[in-house]
Amino acid sequence: MNNRCIAAGVILATATAALAHQGVQNPAVKARMDGMSAIAENLKTLGMMARGATKFDAEAAKGAAAAIATHASTVPGLFEANETDPMSEAKPAIWTNFEDFSAKASELESIAAGLSTSIMTPEDLGPAMGSLGASCKSCHSIYRE
Ligand code: HEC
Repeated sequence: MNNRCIAAGVILATATAALAHQGVQNPAVKARMDGMSAIAENLKTLGMMARGATKFDAEAAKGAAAAIATHASTVPGLFEANETDPMSEAKPAIWTNFEDFSAKASELESIAAGLSTSIMTPEDLGPAMGSLGASCKSCHSIYRE
């Protein structure tokens, strides 16, 4: 799968998730979903630029990457307690492998933090989307329904 496919898939998943948010009763689950949605929103900003749907703006791109890093840093704290909700897509494996789950969150944080200083040209966006998308996937494929 090329970077563009990964990016498109992530954006599609984001649109679906925005609807899935409604009806969540447990505020702790809502908070972690909101954190994920914020990550996805910022990834979308990068994805739109990567596809040329919005104009390339290095500062905005770096800002979006920085925001992903900030939100990723809150992921272990948001997921630490084993909270449930009928709307949740979190798999129980998160809490039996919490160290690995947290490591995947820090990996996203460090990739995004790196990009927050390294994105300079539109050509940097494809690889950026590729590495971010792979990081989302490495966690979702194991820990999300
Ligand atoms: C460390 C693991 C991990 C990483 C890394 C991760 N996610 Fe998630 N994500 C989850 C889990 C677990 C859920 C399910 C949460 C729930 O439903 O309780 C989730 C849910 C989501 C949702 C749905 C939120 C909702 O409203 O239900 C979106 C959108 C999302 N992630 C986007 C992303 C994107 C984009 C990235 C990468 C830039 C990413 N995630 C990286 C673990 C991760």
